[in-house]
Amino acid sequence: MNPAPEPRATLRLSPDRVEDAAALLRAGDLVAFPTETVYGLGADAGNGQAVAGIYAAKGRPSFNPLIVHVPGVEEVERLAVASARARDLMAAFWPGPLTLVLPLRDGAGLSPLVTAGLPTVALRAPAHPLAGTLLQEVGRPLAAPSANPSGRVSPTTADHVLGGLSGRIAAVLDGGSCPVGLESTILGFGDGGPRLLRAGGLPTEALETALGERLILDTDPARVAAPGQMASHYAPRGVVRLNALLPKPGEVMLGFGPVPGEITLSPSGDLQEAAANLFGALHQLDAMGAQRIAVAPIPETGLGRAINDRLRRAAAPRRD
Ligand code: TXA
Ligand code: MG
Repeated sequence: MNPAPEPRATLRLSPDRVEDAAALLRAGDLVAFPTETVYGLGADAGNGQAVAGIYAAKGRPSFNPLIVHVPGVEEVERLAVASARARDLMAAFWPGPLTLVLPLRDGAGLSPLVTAGLPTVALRAPAHPLAGTLLQEVGRPLAAPSANPSGRVSPTTADHVLGGLSGRIAAVLDGGSCPVGLESTILGFGDGGPRLLRAGGLPTEALETALGERLILDTDPARVAAPGQMASHYAPRGVVRLNALLPKPGEVMLGFGPVPGEITLSPSGDLQEAAANLFGALHQLDAMGAQRIAVAPIPETGLGRAINDRLRRAAAPRRD
């Protein structure tokens, strides 16, 4: 009988080894890489076996669609059909934390696992310079969900990635901490006009101004095939209580602005700073073994909407 194969050690690649990371991806291996939002777990989006590897490494329970990362607007044409409005948004916000869900183009050459068989594809051009260089070097679109085991907190450092996926992926390209710290905002273009599918790193107000209309988060599960919408996503291990002004006995306090905590998202109440610190703080709470977590109120404006969305999911009843 053959022994089970040893798990392969995961390489930590410094930014000057971006070509090595690209070579691994071209060969069908999985490589985590930094984006301005969170670390992504990348695979060649045209290689079905590589994309299947993403689901296996994350322990993702079902084939939910993945975001396809491209260097810029020029690469969209081959993959999707972009309306004039979608093009305007790409011109305004790419590269950046905005994902657009567009009709898939015939012959796009993406593995059907990437789109989970849907007739649409989610596309984004990340603003992180290392991600941009990597995409240019690979020369193929990369499917990349957040580089964390399914149901756990998204990674904003290479250490977070290794903490969750070490031995299950070929390498992580270490670009330090992600400046935005929250996943991209996702906008769908259906028949009824633009729909906000996920609040994220691009504040909703910026999109509303560009589109000239109000956007309401579309949470209809029949229409939103989005695992980011699963109730208990983004969860730390401890039980989470929101809008707390003081910790109860046994709770670790996560502070914001005027409400201090053992960990504080932003002492000055700056939402951008809080967004950048959020997932790191949740990882830190896990590392501390926090069983009960109280979270200070966060205003529901700008990036606060996306922060609150992630916190509500973290506080939702667990499936496991
Ligand atoms: O900031 C980000 O978006 C990060 C970085 C790595 O780019 N990626 C990320 O990927 O958050 P992931 O897989 O964790 O979340 C992708 C979301 C899911 O909620 C998925 O259901 C949705 O995008 N999605 C992907 N394709 C879709 C489609 N065709 N229609 C609707 N939703 C889609
Ligand atoms: Mg995710």
